[in-house]
Amino acid sequence: MINKKYYIENYGCQMNISDSEIICSILDNEGFIKTENFKKANIILINTCSIREKSEQKILLRINQLKFLKKKNNNIIIGILGCLAQNFKKKILKINNIINLVLGPDSYREIPSLIRKIYNKSYKYINTFFSKNETYADILPKRDKNKITAFVTIMRGCDNMCTFCVVPFTRGREKSRDPHSIIKECEFLFKKGYKEIILLGQNVDSYLWYGGGLKKNFKKSKIKNERIINFSNLLELVAISVPFMRIRFCTSNPNDMSYKVLNIIKKYKNICKHIHLPVQSGSNKILSLMNRKHTREDYILLINKINKILPNCSISCDIITGFCNEYEYDHNETLNLMKLVKYNFSYMFIYSHRIGTYAYKHLIDNVSLEIKKRRLKEIISLQRKHSYFRLSKSIGNIQEILIEGISKKNINFFYGRNSKNDIVIFPKKKFKIGDFLKVKINNCTSATLIGDLLNEKYYL
Ligand code: 5AD
Ligand code: SF4
Repeated sequence: MINKKYYIENYGCQMNISDSEIICSILDNEGFIKTENFKKANIILINTCSIREKSEQKILLRINQLKFLKKKNNNIIIGILGCLAQNFKKKILKINNIINLVLGPDSYREIPSLIRKIYNKSYKYINTFFSKNETYADILPKRDKNKITAFVTIMRGCDNMCTFCVVPFTRGREKSRDPHSIIKECEFLFKKGYKEIILLGQNVDSYLWYGGGLKKNFKKSKIKNERIINFSNLLELVAISVPFMRIRFCTSNPNDMSYKVLNIIKKYKNICKHIHLPVQSGSNKILSLMNRKHTREDYILLINKINKILPNCSISCDIITGFCNEYEYDHNETLNLMKLVKYNFSYMFIYSHRIGTYAYKHLIDNVSLEIKKRRLKEIISLQRKHSYFRLSKSIGNIQEILIEGISKKNINFFYGRNSKNDIVIFPKKKFKIGDFLKVKINNCTSATLIGDLLNEKYYL
């Protein structure tokens, strides 16, 4: 009899968390049982990320650590899933001979049948083919209990071909998910007690569905029976379908974001006022080398538009420092752009030369690690100032927050977020996780707002 206990470990972005939830659902439907203790599992799955060398090294180290399990019990099945699997393909079996299963992001449906085949026969299986239409639309992800936020994947893959990025090679071409299944899932999540949905995609703005008119009649919406559904249509449909849930989305792309999306964000109170809009660099020369399809000027125009239509919207960003041929001038252009926008928050990375990308094949990774580190330090230090500047503007305000959990640093405090995605901590009161409440902001650090709960609920 096959031991059906499995353990899954997750690396990387929100998209990977969402994929792991899909994998768990596929396995559970076939009678497999998830365990949180890898020592009790007979099947160990590692869902991987390979966006930067550091993430890849971490995973390879982890795979090495698992050798002892295989030595103890040769029947254990070890599977490597996701982006690193897609990137390494067969090579990963040579690096480490304990692996039985290598599956790319479009092959998760095969996991149960392959596990059955492998069991006791110590076969090895690889599938890293891309599918033109696999979106896992019909699979309801198995989410962790007691959470109030749920990820809902709306599109997979990316067509943008930024020269530094492995995503188009590890996740394939863009594929949008059927809007009916997205809305059905959102409504289901509301019934299950979730309070917030994060719509996920590598590039949500290029969401496009040609599947014919929507069957459901959305009375408040003008988009009855539209044949083509774009991201602004989808966002509106979701906002109308689950009016008592907060809606967030990630990631936006400056080249593809339409002004219509901004107006939809403005129109619906339940759509949070936060846009994650990666710029990567402030220098036109670097943006062009990165094959980003926007210039610095296009980006600033879009930021101005956001500020005009949504004056209270927060903007966060991804920045890469030390890309090929980045001179001091280019670095200063990034710092200057940051000073102009004053991002609420940024994810900041040292450039990592990834095998298979255009940059790897055609450009030289010619900025030394020392310079990359120094530039990153300068960017982080500037961002800290801006985050503090942005957060301190909230002091004295009364804000609407969703209680998300108990603070890790102090169990007498709750933490939650306001619409702008700022984290707010406040002393616990009789209220519970998942409540929408008002908070008076009294203080802040460069990362957190600190406040006091008012005895007043708020309604979306
Ligand atoms: N090196 C460093 N950062 C990268 N990112 C993507 N590829 C690389 C790379 N090769 C960053 C980008 C992207 C985020 C998800 O990861 O900033 O927006
Ligand atoms: Fe990668 Fe660029 Fe696509 Fe983002 S938009 S996933 S950086 S290729």
